[in-house]
Amino acid sequence: MSRFPQTVEFTHLNRPLGIEWTARNLHVEGKIPDEIQGAFFRAVPDPAFPPLFDDDSTLSADGMVSRFWFENGAVDHDIRYLRTPRFEAERKARRALFGRYRNPYSDLPEVRNVDRAAANTTPVWHAGRLFMTKEDALGYEVNPHTLETIGAWTYGGKLRSPTMTAHPRVDPVTGEMFMFGYEAGGICTDDVAYFIADREGNLKSEQWFKAPYCSLMHDFGLTENYAIFPVFPTKTDHERLKAGGVHWTHDQQGDSWVGIMPRYGRGEQMRWFKGPKGIFAFHYINAFEQDGLVHLDVCLADTQPFPFIRVASGIHRNPQDLKFTTERWSFDMNKPGDGYASRQISPPGDLPRLRDADQGRPYSHFWLPSMDASLGPPLIGGPVGAQVNALLRVEPGTGRIAGTAFGPGTGVSEPVHVPSGKPGHDGWLIMVVDRGQDAGLHTSELVILDATDIGAPPLARVQLPVPLHPQIHGCWVSAAQMAKSQHKA
Ligand SMILES: [Fe+2]
Repeated sequence: MSRFPQTVEFTHLNRPLGIEWTARNLHVEGKIPDEIQGAFFRAVPDPAFPPLFDDDSTLSADGMVSRFWFENGAVDHDIRYLRTPRFEAERKARRALFGRYRNPYSDLPEVRNVDRAAANTTPVWHAGRLFMTKEDALGYEVNPHTLETIGAWTYGGKLRSPTMTAHPRVDPVTGEMFMFGYEAGGICTDDVAYFIADREGNLKSEQWFKAPYCSLMHDFGLTENYAIFPVFPTKTDHERLKAGGVHWTHDQQGDSWVGIMPRYGRGEQMRWFKGPKGIFAFHYINAFEQDGLVHLDVCLADTQPFPFIRVASGIHRNPQDLKFTTERWSFDMNKPGDGYASRQISPPGDLPRLRDADQGRPYSHFWLPSMDASLGPPLIGGPVGAQVNALLRVEPGTGRIAGTAFGPGTGVSEPVHVPSGKPGHDGWLIMVVDRGQDAGLHTSELVILDATDIGAPPLARVQLPVPLHPQIHGCWVSAAQMAKSQHKA
């Protein structure tokens, strides 16, 4: 019987759990505010079987969809595996059949023509449908009431791109969802598809453009008038893949680029700005236009943050020596040249949360998981091997920063924001906080904070009866939105 590798990818917080469970009326400490009615969906990669390769990444793990349901002060939880063809094939065989992270050439022959989608990165809600997304495949639709997998989402067969980002952007005014897919022309191609669904969920445009080179394009920016596509030098090599190797290596000497085009324009209108060599960013807080400039707020690293990619690239640096910053990049579309200005706007952090209503518009604040190093070493585990223990509320305009820390040995997942209908009230944040144990499994707790006063004691906490595997991203779907779902309970 094969066993899970004893690497950080499969131990500590990342220890595979693989438990599908349901609990009703979890024990709530404190009081859940009356306006919090709806679902907190979470994407959890949790490998159902030991990988074929011991150096594999948890990013290949089978997607689970987790849902906390809030109703009249009570909380329920459900978590289910996505029934992707990949999961079903491996479940039937009772072992892993798919090979390395994003290398189909390393799969066993019996699954060569089976969809590799793991659907494990972000739950996305649009036009009454819930999708589980991962950037190397199409999104998978899930019934939001039953968590049953419906299937790959192709916009009625209209979408040509075989990939869709895990970071679509929904315009809060038009209700349109803007998306892209890279390696759209096939594995290792520099083709990027950029597509838009209208507020009813119909595909209204799809066009393709060429990136400067094939790179890991995880997120993008969207303003009222522009779409922004940063390209960082984490690169691939088809020959390496054919030889069974890794998908990505990071080129520390490689150029970075930011492509900006009119958001309803054509790929040929893309204007490329040149950035520093060797940098990488997974997530953008927001993008907006102000004072004649286009701004992109970036959670930036001076190299590739994922240890498994750095190791494959021969970049051997201690995690504590990596340089992370949070920057605002400003582009003047009215001047010639390929340069842009940057300035720091916040202490470092990642997995930022913005109010949905602020997407693409000038905004006053955001929330950012961050590290309070005075509390000791980080909790081991999560997507990049170390979790952070604090949460910030940052006002980039005023420079005002407030924070709260959860204590030594804790790990904060990306929060969701629940808006309030009351004027002047900024709503709440809900997140999972893990606590490491000296021996055995960690514990997980759901925490609800006032979004304005995040340093105040939590309004409510829910200690979970089963530890939760680290999530990647989450989303909030109100009870009113759920009632308008395309699917019934
Ligand atoms: Fe992400």
